[in-house]
Amino acid sequence: MKLTGNTFLITGGGSGIGRALAEALHQRGNQVIIAGRATDPLADVAAANPGMDSVVLDVCDTAAIARVVPQLIATYPKLDAVIHSAGIQREDDVGNTVDDDLLTATFATNLMAPIRLNSALIEHFRQLPSATIVNISSMLGFVPLANVALYCAAKAALHSYTLSQRYQLRDTSVKVLEIMPPYVQTALMDMNLHDPRAMPLEQFIAETLEALATDEVEVLVPRARERRDALRPGEVAATQKFNDFFMAGTYVQYGEAAETA
Ligand SMILES: NC(=O)c1ccc[n+]([C@@H]2O[C@H](COP(=O)([O-])OP(=O)(O)OC[C@H]3O[C@@H](n4cnc5c(N)ncnc54)[C@H](OP(=O)(O)O)[C@@H]3O)[C@@H](O)[C@H]2O)c1
Repeated sequence: MKLTGNTFLITGGGSGIGRALAEALHQRGNQVIIAGRATDPLADVAAANPGMDSVVLDVCDTAAIARVVPQLIATYPKLDAVIHSAGIQREDDVGNTVDDDLLTATFATNLMAPIRLNSALIEHFRQLPSATIVNISSMLGFVPLANVALYCAAKAALHSYTLSQRYQLRDTSVKVLEIMPPYVQTALMDMNLHDPRAMPLEQFIAETLEALATDEVEVLVPRARERRDALRPGEVAATQKFNDFFMAGTYVQYGEAAETA
């Protein structure tokens, strides 16, 4: 995507990947509005980046989405991009009784929130000459880490949703991108921040912006691309082909296609 001249809404913009993307895009001259559920981190980030705006938005609060999105569009009619960086990752144990509050919070934040926010924005986006949705999944959506099983399942579902959303919007002005981070040093979980196995945030952001500036719809840093290509080669093209055949009534059997007429 073009990395200048946009108006971005970035959820989870008060910390980690969201904050770092917000600052990098702000420095490139984009109008950036960061969203988060706590006022102080948002105010700190906005104060450190004059011209950046912020809005308090708990992405799990459907009433807040319904209230805030029209206000944002009224203030920023050129709002043409959203990056869903808000996320939570908590340890769980699906080999035992699952904590229902954790299950609900994990899916509400990582899966339902981006779907709801995209849904609230889509009518506006479709009216623009071009707009971009950036969903942030995870490499853990491809190979789950068993002690954060619910998180991984939510990210796998977000990836599936993204493939479908991209297909449904294929003939519109709205592009659907997916950033698939590997393990990155942020405060997502306590251990992440100083774990040498995790990628330094600065390096992740630099490589992500490089990939984001291309026409690729799946935005991967090199170390993640290698793994994704080994695990799910050609998935974007396969999704397009499968849906094209299915919609045209020519799909015969999974993995095969033939003209019926
Ligand atoms: N770091 C990694 O290794 C990694 C790998 C793959 C994918 N990701 C994804 O990258 C995204 C960013 O995570 P991060 O690593 O930058 O961690 P982070 O620093 O913890 O950022 C997550 C942000 O989401 C916000 N948030 C959580 N629940 C929210 C809600 N209900 N409403 C609004 N904001 C909410 C958090 O704010 P609070 O302070 O209020 O909680 C925080 O600012 C997440 O989607 C994550 O799943 C990260």
